Parts: sequence; structure tokens; C-alpha cells
Amino acid sequence: MTATAAPVRVRRKVGFWWFALSAAAIAVFAALPYLTSSLPSLAEADNGLAANYAHRPATVQFALYAHIVGAALALLLSPLQFAARLRERAPRLHRVVGRTVFGAIMVGGAAGLVLAPFSSAGIAGTLGFGALAVLWVGSAVTALRAIRGGDVEAHRQWMVRTFALTYAAVTLRLWLPVLIVAQVAAAGVDGQTAFDRAYLVVPFLAWVPNLLVAHWWLRRR
Ligand code: HEM
Repeated sequence: MTATAAPVRVRRKVGFWWFALSAAAIAVFAALPYLTSSLPSLAEADNGLAANYAHRPATVQFALYAHIVGAALALLLSPLQFAARLRERAPRLHRVVGRTVFGAIMVGGAAGLVLAPFSSAGIAGTLGFGALAVLWVGSAVTALRAIRGGDVEAHRQWMVRTFALTYAAVTLRLWLPVLIVAQVAAAGVDGQTAFDRAYLVVPFLAWVPNLLVAHWWLRRR
């Protein structure tokens, strides 16, 4: 083992577990309230964005649930695909999980696109979440086409981009409290106003920096 091999391995392990655990935490905790309580009772308790959906037509509510189940499944399972040892030892498992993640992204992304025009963030949400949904589905389809064509390197790169977009669900929930606390502390803005303002930028802030970091990381390698 070279002197630099050990720190690189440790860094990779720490990175893997950070992504796996943060993705699992958000997949479970963001989705759970919607799967254990009705929209009207969540709206009454002012939980998440339920109030924005409790009075919507059944098709929009159906899209919300399809989105939450599909996207949460994709977020939960995606990190497994980056575990090199698992890929080498159980290639069939990699294929089965890969197909499941692909299907989950198609459902979660298509439903996300249906929800975008109803976003609580208005036009910013429609554009930001809408673009995210289109890029998410497009990136996953490109990754699948690459591996079907036998191009493993292109597949790997498109899966990194796809995960950077999937991970928007985590970064959105990290940016929100940071932006709210910054406004309350620096400008004495009240909590609700701070949330409303922060929610105008997170539809883009949740995924544009992720894509830039993924791009930088791929070039570096
Ligand atoms: C990456 C592509 C994604 C897109 C395009 C997308 C899009 C959307 C949109 C448009 C909404 C409605 C937001 C609003 O009303 O303002 C929403 C809500 C929601 N999404 Fe996603 N989303 C994505 C990923 C995910 C992932 C990976 C999860 C996994 C947990 C997730 C979980 C949720 C939940 C739980 C809600 C309900 C809102 C809340 O209470 O936080 N989404 N999403």
C-alpha cells in the first residue's frame, strides 16, 4: 500500500457513508409523514407542504404520492450503486437495484413534473423543479442507454450526474434552514417571511451547485 492510498480509501469510505446515511435519513423522514397521515390532518398540523395540496384535485394529490414514493425509493437505493465492492461481488444485485432505481426515477420525475406548476414557490418553483425533473429523467435515461450500448465509463459518469440531481432532496433540506437562520439573524426577519423568501431560491439552489460539484469531481478524476 502506498503512503497516499490509505487516506484516499478513508476519504472514499467517509464520503460513501455520508451520502448513504444522509440520503436514507431524508428518504425516510421526508416521506414518512405523508405515508402515515392524511393530507388534511398534515395541513391542519402545518406539516411540510401539505396545506398546498390538501385542496387540490385528486390527480394532483395522486401525483404527490407517486412522487414521494418513487423519489424516496430512488434516494434510498441510489448510494448502493456506488459501492464498488458490492458491484464487483454481486453484479446481479447491481442490475436489479439499478432497474428499480431507474423505474423509481421515471415515476418520481414524471410526477415531479406534474407537481411543478402547483409548487408553493410559484413561478420559481415551476421553473426550478420543472427543469430538475426534466434533467433527472433525461440523465437517468442517458445512463441506461450508455450501459445498454456497453459504454461503462459514460454510464458511470451519467449515474454520478443522476445522483447529484437525486441528492437535491437532501441539499434542499440543508439550504432551507441555513437561509432561514441567516435572514432571521442578519435582518431580524420573522420565520414565515424568511421561509417564503428562502423557498423562492431553493428550487434552483437545491440542484445547480450539486451538478457543478459533480462536473468538477468527474473532471478531476
Ligand atoms: C430530483 C428530482 C425531484 C423533483 C423534480 C421534485 C419535485 C418536487 C415538487 C415540484 C414538489 C412540490 C413542491 C412545492 O409544492 O413547492 C415536491 C415535493 C416533495 N418532494 Fe420532491 N422532487 C424531487 C426529488 C425528491 C426526492 C429524491 C425526494 C425524497 C424524499 C422528494 C420528496 C418530496 C416530498 C416529501 C415532497 C412534499 C413536500 C414536503 O413536505 O417537503 N423529492 N417535489
